[in-house]
Amino acid sequence: MDSKALYQISYGLYVVGTKIDGKDAGCVVDAFIQSTSSPVPTVILCSIQANQTNTAIKQTGEFTISVLTKKTDPFVIANFGFQSGRDADKWANVPAKRMGDLPILENAAAWLRCKVTDFKELTTHTVFFCDVTDAMVGEGEVLTYGEYQKNWKGRAQEAFKAFRESGKAPAPAPRWVCSICGYVYDGTIPFEELPEDWKCPICGHPKSVFVKE
Ligand SMILES: Cc1cc2nc3c(=O)[nH]c(=O)nc-3n(C[C@H](O)[C@H](O)[C@H](O)COP(=O)(O)O)c2cc1C
Repeated sequence: MDSKALYQISYGLYVVGTKIDGKDAGCVVDAFIQSTSSPVPTVILCSIQANQTNTAIKQTGEFTISVLTKKTDPFVIANFGFQSGRDADKWANVPAKRMGDLPILENAAAWLRCKVTDFKELTTHTVFFCDVTDAMVGEGEVLTYGEYQKNWKGRAQEAFKAFRESGKAPAPAPRWVCSICGYVYDGTIPFEELPEDWKCPICGHPKSVFVKE
């Protein structure tokens, strides 16, 4: 058997949000899929038994999913994927808001709220079977696990090293807004690096009319 064949299965990347003993918890996952779409959309999450998030989901019976995008700060992946909530208040380190009583990332391609209906223990993982009880669409192109492995893993590792050395989470990236028409710059090139003759794609005014928020 050539187990590299399994690398050809594609996944997204997600941040799970849940609670344990009244405190926010969660981690990065890729093993998350939709299983059926009607009468109720259902999803499946595969979660490592040793993780705090696993215990938290069993306690709460519910979790959120924030779908990561190509604009997600690599630190977000490091924060939720390289350390345990047993050692850090992960949700305090990133821009976050709430879906009901559970935490979600401020920015994501979409958000789901999932209610566990059943679960099965495997050797190292728990498979959670869930109903989707709420869903919202956000913005951005989704980040795939393959792309993470190719281009993002190194950036996430660097961001985590800087975080460990400074003890401080990076400030969220500023928004650049056109003061004439309100367009919010959302390109992949950092705004500061755009050429001086770049113009607002909506109203055509020059780069200099943009303000940092
Ligand atoms: C890119 C990436 C993908 C991951 N995928 C999963 C996954 O599908 N399921 C899982 O349980 N853990 C996954 N993890 C591992 C957890 O995010 C990681 O062990 C985390 O530190 C657990 O934190 P916790 O103890 O606060 O739950 C992944 C980590 C990374 C970096």
